[in-house]
Amino acid sequence: MLNVAVLISGTGSNLRALLEQTADPAYPARVVVVGADRDAPGLQHAADFSAPSFSVPYTAFSTREEWGEALAEQLRAWEPDLIVLSGLMRLLPPQVVSEFAPRIINTHPAYLPEFPGAHGVRDALAAGVDQTGASIIQVDDGVDTGPLLAQERVAVLPGDTEESLHARIKPVERRLLIDVVRRIATGDIDLTGARA
Ligand code: GRF
Repeated sequence: MLNVAVLISGTGSNLRALLEQTADPAYPARVVVVGADRDAPGLQHAADFSAPSFSVPYTAFSTREEWGEALAEQLRAWEPDLIVLSGLMRLLPPQVVSEFAPRIINTHPAYLPEFPGAHGVRDALAAGVDQTGASIIQVDDGVDTGPLLAQERVAVLPGDTEESLHARIKPVERRLLIDVVRRIATGDIDLTGARA
């Protein structure tokens, strides 16, 4: 059984999908803890599934490094096999990445390396492309630059807004995330030598 810690900032719909999946005894992973960098609404999903949760508010620390150390201390206590960044809207400081790498993955609402960063959906729309996508990557010290684990295209439709496009990308992200976590658990994806 793969023990997963999930970090969020927002509504946590991808987290919820993973929690629903892990309720299936045949699924080879479980969520051992959910963490957030703020009082995120998505923490309620952890409560709904009786999963432990914690919040390490970014704004309570004067530097990213201090925040990162407090976050790492929480994570260490749960001894996760894998950390999933599922809408965590903060860059992890390098010391946290190096402590837990290569066992950190991130979901991203664009077809990386296209449109990295915090506004992947908005940037794709602004660029006028007719397709974007969803990606799951391994986390390194860059901004969405780590090795790709899975990705899929999503069409941009005439009249799309950031909200409508993101709403079509998220179900793809969820499906990819659930599949990647399963493949990590079964050894089909080896994070020490990542391959898609
Ligand atoms: C996802 O699209 C994630 O990739 C992005 O933020 C969104 C989080 O959505 N970074 P949710 O909190 O899982 O609903």
